Amino acid sequence: MSVGSPGAAAYECSPNIALIKYWGVRDPRRTLPWNSSVSVTLDRLRSRTAVRFEGGRSEDEFRLDGAAVGGRPLDDVIEFLDRVRGAAGIRERAVVDSSNNFQTASGLASSASGFAALAGAATRAAGLNWSDRRLSQLARLGSGSACRSIYGGFVEWRRGTRSDGSDCYARPVFGEDHWPELVDVVAIVKGAPTKPVRSAAAMQSSVATSPGYAHRQKELPGRVRKLLRALRDRDAPRLFDLVMEECDSFRDVCETTDPPLDYLTATSRSVLAAVRAENERAGRAVAGYTHDAGAHVHVFTLTKSAARLRRRLGSIEGVDRTLLLRPGPGGRAIPLPRGR
Ligand code: DP6
Repeated sequence: MSVGSPGAAAYECSPNIALIKYWGVRDPRRTLPWNSSVSVTLDRLRSRTAVRFEGGRSEDEFRLDGAAVGGRPLDDVIEFLDRVRGAAGIRERAVVDSSNNFQTASGLASSASGFAALAGAATRAAGLNWSDRRLSQLARLGSGSACRSIYGGFVEWRRGTRSDGSDCYARPVFGEDHWPELVDVVAIVKGAPTKPVRSAAAMQSSVATSPGYAHRQKELPGRVRKLLRALRDRDAPRLFDLVMEECDSFRDVCETTDPPLDYLTATSRSVLAAVRAENERAGRAVAGYTHDAGAHVHVFTLTKSAARLRRRLGSIEGVDRTLLLRPGPGGRAIPLPRGR
């Protein structure tokens, strides 16, 4: 099967979980963040997107997991395709067919993998052969965190300083095989609510109203440096402490936003408490929790502690199941699905 045919291409990307969060933009039009962020791209979960530009078609169509999508998500896809059409000098409308092998909009970052996959598929389908750096800059305009899902392993999204955004992009820091013992135990919370407002809008109300936002910004460059060092040195207790410190700072800013942003359920909070108790029991950090704008909790630990931690978290009332994920691959072209 060919990887693409003229006018059509398919691409696959995995979601990422932020260790240092992106939360706030200094330029919403270009999605230029206030701070750099760091993430791990995950294995096993993925978004697959096929794009076909068709002459004679009057409107773009967006299908997600087999069902036609309208409203705001369709508008976001059209806006994204318009950028690609503009760059390629084409006018054809497209059919976008996307599927996720995980639940969408619940804190497992479907918009990140979705827009990263759309960037790869749409540019190729339009005949553009862009570098990963350029793809990350394009993906960022669909969903900020998507810029990091272009790459596998450990990724830094550099905030940059230029007003045109030319030095704002994601870059791979350590590959997916850098730290084979590091795993992410995800506690999937039953009845996790889908987020009512996209993070891009929610974060701007934190920038405007959270009294702790400016202080958090001051702390972040130092925390990014320390975290990259802990990753480089494969220093697990240090990494887990920093990941929790960052998550607590992010949550504090959300909770002090007016009106408050509360993404967690009582079950999520029990997961955080259980991780703290495990660390206390061990006398050092053997695990580190983090969460995004959703109720599921990602808990980093080493393979030797993973089975115990899964049993512990899996026994918490309201935890549906746990997933064991590892650092995963970057975006890749895939064969067009049959019939497309
Ligand atoms: C909390 O703007 O990338 O996950 O609204 O889903 O497109 P969407 O998200 P995005 O914001 C992500 C915010 C975050 C932190 C992070 O991933 O860095």
